[in-house]
Amino acid sequence: AAPADQATLRVQLPAELLTRQCPFDPPQALDRMHAQAPVGQVTLGTGEKMWVVTGIDEARFVMSDPRFSADRFNRRNTLVSVPEEAREKLFGERAMAGQFLAMDPPQHTRLRKMVVGQFTLRRMRALVPRITEIVDTHLDAMEAAGTSADLVSAFALPVPSLVICELLGVPYEARADFQRRTSTLVRMNTPVKEAVQAREEMREFMHELVEAKRAQPDDGLISGLIHGDHAGELTDDELVGIANLLLGAGHETTANMIALGAFALLEHPDQLELLRHDPEIADKAVEELLRYVSILHMGPFRVATDEVEVGGVRILEGDTVMISTPKINRDSAHWENPDTFDLTRERNPHLAFGYGIHQCLGQQLARAEMSVALPALARRFPHLRLACRPEEVPMRDNMFIYGVHSLPVAWDAPQET
Ligand code: HEM
Repeated sequence: AAPADQATLRVQLPAELLTRQCPFDPPQALDRMHAQAPVGQVTLGTGEKMWVVTGIDEARFVMSDPRFSADRFNRRNTLVSVPEEAREKLFGERAMAGQFLAMDPPQHTRLRKMVVGQFTLRRMRALVPRITEIVDTHLDAMEAAGTSADLVSAFALPVPSLVICELLGVPYEARADFQRRTSTLVRMNTPVKEAVQAREEMREFMHELVEAKRAQPDDGLISGLIHGDHAGELTDDELVGIANLLLGAGHETTANMIALGAFALLEHPDQLELLRHDPEIADKAVEELLRYVSILHMGPFRVATDEVEVGGVRILEGDTVMISTPKINRDSAHWENPDTFDLTRERNPHLAFGYGIHQCLGQQLARAEMSVALPALARRFPHLRLACRPEEVPMRDNMFIYGVHSLPVAWDAPQET
């Protein structure tokens, strides 16, 4: 084994399950697995087995049956190998406080309810007009700066980052730091030292913010958790964990959906034209993008707490189960021509936001951001094009959240009149 200070958080998943032949399609190895059965098994780098769900009915079953626990860190973390000395710092009680994404009822229920209570009607109503302003400001800046840009750093990343900062009450000046820390933690094979440092920095940063808001309340969601209906019910560690969960999930996911969605649209010019010319189509288009380009490279993950039969296999207590979101959303039992990207699809019961009690809490926010950002981008730059060959776009194959590292785009200067 490597010395502790050189160790990396090694991902043990077989490479073929991560390698995409087309940037928008699931890895072909998953197609082959699905052709055999909706639930299959792979061998991890540790030699252990892990179940992989590729059928949408089976995925729905796993995500709604209480015999599957979302607490996949405290048990055996089979997917990522973590040196023992770092395990406590990364997945110990303090590190996981407030991370209800990885909790089961009743702990999960208690925390989720408090956070849901903060997504108030007033906050949600203000969202679309504010997102529209933020989107327009960033498009103005792109236009003013010339005729080309990296769409990720100029648009896809700053828009959701600013939106979630305003919603939570996190100063936007902190963005470079929290974006870097999140990116370190979602990178596969990150040096352990860097991951531990990123976690600790995140906790310190949020701890200071929580203290500041305790002393001086504001309109944001974090302040709402401290001073609202549930005042005094959350420990500082829980508040810090919840706020960091929302901050991370709130920018990294949507940023990649916007950037990867834009790439898919540029590669399907007929669909881009539809979006540009038909404002009515925006909502349907967002659902199809969520189905067709999954930013969840793999997962959600669950651990069986009992023996369960699903999809013709018997899963044993303690077994890890990975749902393949990219693959389940292409299930031909539920979609006609599942591999066709069609923004006009009427029926689209995809599971891009998961299912059951852990279903994405930010889904309305993510939808609002995508449905404002992508049509506005298409309309602002009628001749938007990729500024490199599609195969040169750096894909995030090495990240838990899939997407593009950057997306070079160009457009024509407006005609002088
Ligand atoms: C949970 C996807 C945006 C906050 C989830 C889950 C998925 C998901 C699949 C379920 C995970 C599981 O079952 O283990 C996405 C996608 C997004 C997105 C594709 C963007 C397009 C957001 C945003 C927020 C957010 C903007 C911020 C408010 C959360 C939280 C959970 C969650 C807090 C945990 C819910 C729970 O455990 O009860 N998300 N998400 N997500 N998401 Fe999102």
